[in-house]
Amino acid sequence: MAPKINYMSKVEIHINDIEQNPCCPHGPSVLFERIFQDGRRKKFYACSACRDRKLCPFYLEEEQIVKRNEKTTDMQKESSCFNNHATKFKIYLKLLSRINKREVYYCETCNMLIADNSKKDHDKCNLSEILKEKELRTPSHIFSPKSESKFQAQYFFTDESLKVIVQLMNDLEIKKVLCIGVPSVYEYVKNNLSMKTFLLDIDDRYCNFFSTTDFCVYNMFNHYFFGGHKSREVYEDFLKENPADKLLVIIDPPFGGRVELISNTLSTLEKEWKRLNNISGDKTLPVALIFPYFHEKTS
Ligand SMILES: C[S@@+](CC[C@H](N)C(=O)[O-])C[C@H]1O[C@@H](n2cnc3c(N)ncnc32)[C@H](O)[C@@H]1O
Ligand SMILES: [Zn+2]
Ligand SMILES: [Zn+2]
Repeated sequence: MAPKINYMSKVEIHINDIEQNPCCPHGPSVLFERIFQDGRRKKFYACSACRDRKLCPFYLEEEQIVKRNEKTTDMQKESSCFNNHATKFKIYLKLLSRINKREVYYCETCNMLIADNSKKDHDKCNLSEILKEKELRTPSHIFSPKSESKFQAQYFFTDESLKVIVQLMNDLEIKKVLCIGVPSVYEYVKNNLSMKTFLLDIDDRYCNFFSTTDFCVYNMFNHYFFGGHKSREVYEDFLKENPADKLLVIIDPPFGGRVELISNTLSTLEKEWKRLNNISGDKTLPVALIFPYFHEKTS
């Protein structure tokens, strides 16, 4: 029987083989169970990443599932997501190498970097200021934060908070850091420290700035890689690289995300890290979880 986790609300979550659940554009959905005041119960699948039906309308009652074991992910879509990321990063490298000769902009409307010679094609778009090399290396400073509280809920750390995190990593003698939903930490480590780092985040704007070798578009609520097996491979390579180096996972989930799902992801990740590095026994993976208070109705 599926392990049932109680939450202080009228909607419970069933976490068992999330990978087998039907998929929405954000990967395998989650099986929820709504409990009505009169005791009736209704199970349904809904998006793991968006809590607003307007942003992801996926909804399926449990009885509507005919073939539960059918693999529903779209491998073609995953492969093109990975290839688009690779293409965007090539454009980034090209523009970075010419930054002193050309004006470079980020088009928020088309989600792409452009040079001045194609600016006329984006005259109705929302363009950034001219980007300098520093901004190309720290894109979190140029993006407008995605602030939908029921989806990405992006809030970046101040420099002061980043310093506290770096101090923590130094105190723990960390040599590798896996950043989940913390792009500003990833940028800081990459640009300022000798530590190896890797970013997992659902915000695909970063594909225009970060390589496929150290960034994957990813959903932390179901451990889903939008770039499919190619993305998974690079993430696994990172986990395997220099296994003697102490690894820290640092994660800052969006506000209101279900803790049960984060906990499930972290335990899956720890299992994968152990399997890939032949680690047995009680050794645990250090995790720094940033967890703000929030007060929100969950039913
Ligand atoms: C509260 S912000 C944390 C940002 C962090 N404080 C920083 O300064 O880098 C949440 C982050 O998680 C990402 N995110 C939101 N939903 C996600 C999901 N389902 N899976 C992975 N990343 C997600 C957002 O894009 C954002 O970068
Ligand atoms: Zn969805
Ligand atoms: Zn445009």
